[in-house]
Amino acid sequence: MINVGFLGAGEIAKSHAAAVAQVQGARLAAIYDALPQRAAAIAGQYQAVHCDTLEQLLRFPGLDILYILTPPAVHADQISAAAEAGIPILCEKPLTLSLAEADRAILAARQHGVPLMTGQSHRYHPLASKARELLLEGSLGDIVAAWSHRLTTLAVKPGSWLSQRALGGGLALQYALHDLDWERWLAGEATAVSAQEAHTHPEIDIEDNLWALVQFQNGSSGSVGVSWSCQDAYTERGVIGSRGNLRIINQRRLVGQLAGGKKIDINLGDDYDWEDVFVREARDAIERVRTGQPFAITGEDGRATLELGLAVQKAAMTRRMISLPLLETTSTEAAW
Ligand SMILES: NC(=O)c1ccc[n+]([C@@H]2O[C@H](COP(=O)([O-])OP(=O)(O)OC[C@H]3O[C@@H](n4cnc5c(N)ncnc54)[C@H](O)[C@@H]3O)[C@@H](O)[C@H]2O)c1
Repeated sequence: MINVGFLGAGEIAKSHAAAVAQVQGARLAAIYDALPQRAAAIAGQYQAVHCDTLEQLLRFPGLDILYILTPPAVHADQISAAAEAGIPILCEKPLTLSLAEADRAILAARQHGVPLMTGQSHRYHPLASKARELLLEGSLGDIVAAWSHRLTTLAVKPGSWLSQRALGGGLALQYALHDLDWERWLAGEATAVSAQEAHTHPEIDIEDNLWALVQFQNGSSGSVGVSWSCQDAYTERGVIGSRGNLRIINQRRLVGQLAGGKKIDINLGDDYDWEDVFVREARDAIERVRTGQPFAITGEDGRATLELGLAVQKAAMTRRMISLPLLETTSTEAAW
């Protein structure tokens, strides 16, 4: 039995708890949150132990993997503490809020020989990974461009960590990070970004619309457009290759056409439940812990996506084109 520990019992913990419960041979064993009633509620639902302190969680006998599910401002310290305790870590995205913190967290994991995974969950979407598979096997030819547009309404609570750029990183490090990560996964590292943001809700400190253009080292282009103020939710991702192209519509259907006229149409159906990505992520992470294989999305990988997100954030805030790699390794606020 693989024993999973949770640090954090907020919204995403509910999704991960339901996902872990679907993985055979694994169980949520122990959970801690700074708000005890939240941890107690999830512990009660999944017959896990509710810990009173972080130390108690980290000393819980036989923990095989720790999910870090807290706001990103505390990730670096918590990764370091879990690394010191010798527990493999799956940390939610963004890995941290600054490159300096990411470096500190990665170093702690390395020094203690602890595997560190970044929870870039969108890579576990079956159609997102199918697009990459088609690209890698050559069916699409060389990548020319990728786009990812996700428009929705999200009621961000004023005063919450999510509503404050210094605590959550804003749309660039929260929502758009998934889109940037998917494009990085397809196209490789970026050389420059430009971006523009709009702020439609003055009661929150962050932008709620963000549009970015990315230049990749291999010459391809990426576009990311995300909105939290769009009444009519809609998502589309796509890839243009030199020998074919595809679109993923509302995360449920992939349609494409390859050179030679071959058509692709994969429909997951209207009932496809997005929570499936967390089940796939849990199965993969737990299997790797069980078999001692390295994680699929490492801390270094999470750092590289964070760097792209920070570049987009900086481009939007300064209205300048930003080159990568970034020179700064200090906090988001101090840098611009
Ligand atoms: N992969 C995804 O699709 C996805 C989706 C949503 C959120 N997330 C990420 O998950 C993380 C958590 O987001 P959320 O929406 O669950 O937030 P949340 O605010 O709902 O939950 C965070 C929890 O952490 C607890 N907490 C805060 N500081 C703590 C500390 N120092 N020690 C112990 N507990 C502490 C809070 O009490 C709260 O219960 C963030 O990094 C976010 O970006 C990822």
